[in-house]
Amino acid sequence: MHRRSKLSVIGAGSVGSSLAYASLIRGSADEVVLQDINAALVDAEVLDIAHGAPLAGRSTIGGGADIEVTEGSDVIVVTAGAKQRPGQTRLDLAGVNARILDGMIPRLVELSPDAVIVLVTNPCDVLTVLAAERADLPAGRVFSSGTVLDSSRLRNAIARHTEVPSSEVQAVVLGEHGDSAFSHWSQATVAGVPVEEWRLSDGSAPVTPALRDAIDHEVVTAAYRVIEGKGATNYAIGLSGARIVEAVLHDEGAVLPVSSPLDGVHGITGVALSLPSVVGASGVARVVDVALTDDELDRLHRSAGAIADAVDALH
Ligand code: 2OP
Repeated sequence: MHRRSKLSVIGAGSVGSSLAYASLIRGSADEVVLQDINAALVDAEVLDIAHGAPLAGRSTIGGGADIEVTEGSDVIVVTAGAKQRPGQTRLDLAGVNARILDGMIPRLVELSPDAVIVLVTNPCDVLTVLAAERADLPAGRVFSSGTVLDSSRLRNAIARHTEVPSSEVQAVVLGEHGDSAFSHWSQATVAGVPVEEWRLSDGSAPVTPALRDAIDHEVVTAAYRVIEGKGATNYAIGLSGARIVEAVLHDEGAVLPVSSPLDGVHGITGVALSLPSVVGASGVARVVDVALTDDELDRLHRSAGAIADAVDALH
């Protein structure tokens, strides 16, 4: 008999609710559970989503304020915590969100000892290091959504300028999910063609150095722009989370730019940051050893430094 897969989403704020909603619509998990300490909020979000569930597919939604609703999860996605206010960086949230997570992780592991844990709460790279320490699970079982969202923003931007659907764009953002993130331009392709060689129908090559700079700026400041206008980002991170959940629950071995604690990759140890990683039922099975130019390696190390400083400040 088919065993029903269970996803628990911790935090029923705009990110957690959107992630649960996206997962339900996509059928990412058979059972979606939403948990939040705010009982009135979580009950209302669960009700609202449940009212649409018959129109979506076969997934079910439930949840509540009691952490025990997460028991027996296959995947847990943590979105709980303070969010950026206009002008704040993700790293500004480290102290308050580390305390929230610290109390929560051991109980989540106790209730779901076999679950893969995905951190979405910011600063997600910093919190992944702490959560992995607290959870004490096999390597790869705790990781974060990292730059899956930033990479989606990058593909969206490249697709617009190269006039192809974003499904034709292979490009990722590496490093911190934050201000030091950078696009992995040296390996970016459009339908397998190096991005700078891609031609439009009039013969022009749209991806010039100036356009690359503009796209980099657009991607790194994307969240700030959205937060300025509506106070939070939620839909795109909701979809990013749902996509990661599918990679785990379907044991896809999909290569996604998630962030996991590194152990010597590109000379980096003790911090989590995003590199293309093979994601399946056990979480991150391995980090792919991608080719980096000297400049990209330098930027990766700068990103690692920024995350290490934030981790050290919390220890
Ligand atoms: C985002 O990039 C704020 O980290 C969140 O949308």
